[in-house]
Amino acid sequence: MRKKITVIGAGHVGEITAFKIAEKELGDVVLLDVVEDMPIGKGLDMREGGPVGQYDSAIMGTNSYEDTANSDIVVITAGKPRTPGMSRDELLDANVQIVKPVTEEVVKHSPNAMLLVVTNPLDAMAYLAYKVSGFPKNRVFGMAGILDTTRFRAFISMELNVSVENIQALVLGGHGDTMVPIARYTTVAGIPLTHFLGQDKIDAIVERTRKGGGEIVKYLKTGSAYYAPSLAVAEMVESIVKDKKKILPCAAYLEGEYGIKDLYFGVPIKLGAGGVEEIIEIDLTDEEKEMLKSSETAVRTVVDLIKL
Ligand code: NAI
Ligand code: 2OP
Repeated sequence: MRKKITVIGAGHVGEITAFKIAEKELGDVVLLDVVEDMPIGKGLDMREGGPVGQYDSAIMGTNSYEDTANSDIVVITAGKPRTPGMSRDELLDANVQIVKPVTEEVVKHSPNAMLLVVTNPLDAMAYLAYKVSGFPKNRVFGMAGILDTTRFRAFISMELNVSVENIQALVLGGHGDTMVPIARYTTVAGIPLTHFLGQDKIDAIVERTRKGGGEIVKYLKTGSAYYAPSLAVAEMVESIVKDKKKILPCAAYLEGEYGIKDLYFGVPIKLGAGGVEEIIEIDLTDEEKEMLKSSETAVRTVVDLIKL
């Protein structure tokens, strides 16, 4: 039996996420949006691409939660993206008003689903979805770290002119400008990054990674990135559906790991059929711990503004 995967929000991230999930045949896909008929058109278009794209996933678009009933995974992309000059945190008020009722509908129609949150500000929205849903923590998580890490990897591959496949990296912390790319755990074909690049170059790549989302917003002007984010969501869905147990940086609920309690925060997790199956704690230097602390403070400041 195929998995049922619902994507809420059929905007830029939602539509490409739905398409990648269908193309990879990870399950049947339901794409929901509040805009009348639009998701139905997008879903039908994707379904009609099946024969030539060689995927058998059934895809449908809808305006009704009835069609999402009993989903195995629900991806929440509904919400406003930022525009130039805005921080992700400035989306808080508007997106609380969207993610809260969306989560309530999801719980009503798919009480056993896993919730994969994408809407920004990411760590705060994952926290909101967790509290509103009442789901266990292994079934509620957020996508951000894979996006931040793929940017870091892409910039390194561009600098070194080597395959992106050679680069393994890790970005921890909140999905904001205080995120913590850990250069010490970054390798190129297993060789430490420091063999290839001096500290100045590494620092510049770290800084570009931290500002990576804003760089795209500056060029797009009317919204934020969606190709890399959608691929990142698809990687998470694949790890769950195929029970691959990949270790991926994702926003997970912490209860003391990394010295952090009652917060969603980007850490390496093992993602499989059971959702968040394990949180991996790695050794950090004092300097890295300090950066993580600043990131925690930044996330907590935003979460504290949510009135549940
Ligand atoms: P978009 O504006 O293209 O699409 C958002 C969609 O949500 C729209 O189609 C809108 O009609 C829909 N929507 C609004 N309220 C809704 C509701 N109550 N129920 C169902 N649908 C609703 O925006 P885009 O680019 O797709 O981004 C979506 C969100 O994802 C933004 O908050 C953005 O900041 C965030 N994002 C987060 C990333 C991450 O790394 N966590 C990466 C990329 C985007
Ligand atoms: C990004 O980093 C929009 O948060 C998203 O591009």
